[in-house]
Amino acid sequence: MKTVVRKINPGHFQDEELQEACCILQEGGLVAFPTETVYGLGGDALSPEASYKIYHAKGRPSDNPLIVHIADLKGLYDLVLDVSPEALRLAEEFWPGPLTMIFPKKENVPMATTGGLPTVAVRMPSHPVARGLIRCSGIYVAAPSANLSGRPSPTKAEHVIEDMDGRIDMILDSGPVGIGIESTILDMTADVPLILRPGYITEDMVRKVAGSVAIDPAVAAKAPKENIVAKAPGMKYRHYAPHGQMVIVEGKPEAVAKKINDLVKEKESERKKAAVIATEETKGMYGCKEVYSIGSRKSEGSIAAGMYGILRQMDTIGAEYIFAESFAEDTLGQAIMNRMLKAAGYHRIKVWRGTFMKHYDQVLFVCTANTFLSPVAEGIYRYNAPGWMPKGISRGLVVLFEEPINPKCNLLLTKNNYDISGHNQSRQLTEEDLTEESLILTMTLSEKVKLIEQFEHEENVYTIGEFVGEDTDIVVPGSGEDEKYRECFEELVLRVNKVIGKLEKLYKEI
Ligand code: TXA
Ligand code: MG
Repeated sequence: MKTVVRKINPGHFQDEELQEACCILQEGGLVAFPTETVYGLGGDALSPEASYKIYHAKGRPSDNPLIVHIADLKGLYDLVLDVSPEALRLAEEFWPGPLTMIFPKKENVPMATTGGLPTVAVRMPSHPVARGLIRCSGIYVAAPSANLSGRPSPTKAEHVIEDMDGRIDMILDSGPVGIGIESTILDMTADVPLILRPGYITEDMVRKVAGSVAIDPAVAAKAPKENIVAKAPGMKYRHYAPHGQMVIVEGKPEAVAKKINDLVKEKESERKKAAVIATEETKGMYGCKEVYSIGSRKSEGSIAAGMYGILRQMDTIGAEYIFAESFAEDTLGQAIMNRMLKAAGYHRIKVWRGTFMKHYDQVLFVCTANTFLSPVAEGIYRYNAPGWMPKGISRGLVVLFEEPINPKCNLLLTKNNYDISGHNQSRQLTEEDLTEESLILTMTLSEKVKLIEQFEHEENVYTIGEFVGEDTDIVVPGSGEDEKYRECFEELVLRVNKVIGKLEKLYKEI
């Protein structure tokens, strides 16, 4: 198939210039077009055949539903069964614009378009060419991002040509898009509007209009978790990925640059091609050849707009390793990091004074039976660690049957106001507990050794003493004397507080 590329000046065009594209859509063909977020690959949303063509052109699994693009509110009522007052307020506030909302679908929307779901995703784009195309064709346009499945979304017509030349009828080229990151997706069928994909319209912006908002746990998670399934089918696929192995490095700019420079040298000495994704402010800090600026740290918008182009460029230059700086996960940064982390397969490291530090999401205290030392450590940690720190849990190496925690230890905890509600039974350590993002602290060296042998897991396993710079083990007193228990308890309080202090310091310095 020959793909025609038509240039359309978004600031100044006549409807007649869209005529050919409109005919293609009306006849069931495919047209890629610019939106304010990314380029879309459009077809007639009410035609199952057109939807099949879209899936085929993208190489996309057909259980991954398409977004239907409309030009006015009439379109919404034509496609969906029920529009709540909040949805209408959100539409009035953010449409036309980078927001997609999911509703129960009407009969006329084919299952082929919704990937077999009873719901449909609808968006009213603001880009003048997208609006012109929908309006002039009189068609509701189903459009995923116009990239091959698994490639970064296209933010320029050149990107669409790279992926779609020969696979679709026409590409409308209106130059680079404005935002560069796909729309925010809100599921309006839940009790509270639920963010399935973060985007330019942030959580706070939604909350201000809708009164409340929640985030899909699969999106909020720092890494994919087997037990959490993304609600937007498309979010479960490995997306936006360059071919090379990408690592995101977090920390203070100087420490990050030093670490990345070392990593690049190491890869280059292995004759591998390494590239760096930096920013306008930091690009001068790297000594290697392939340094690319994604945008300016002073403008999150410029980073969003530059991101997909840079990720594509990594493939163009054939980068085998990509080391990228990271960005704060606030406002638009949440959407940026959501995409960057996916591109990196969630591979990220923190550096602190040039040494690696993992991004922990839990502190796991381990002892033998999980009836005294480790649950106490958990209780002290939970009570004393600030809310933003990793959560604390505890497990035992050998828990043959679940038992309540030691009554003496319970007494000491309650006397000192420590709370371990939620942990009133001992629990066996399992492989699932030993995630890559866990800091694992045993009470004794022999427990550490046993853990490593039994689970063949040695990443981030320390004795609690080792972690805080003390070399003695903590052991349960042999005899049942209350005084000994109290001493042991107090020692544990000291150590756990040191753990908290150390983590706090590490995180603050990053
Ligand atoms: O900014 C955008 O939204 C761009 C432009 C072209 O409008 N479009 C876009 O489409 O990003 P696409 O297909 O690449 O991503 C659509 C996402 C997928 O993750 C899909 O699973 C999800 O929306 N989605 C669509 N319909 C859904 C539904 N009924 N329920 C849950 N998720 C849905
Ligand atoms: Mg996409």
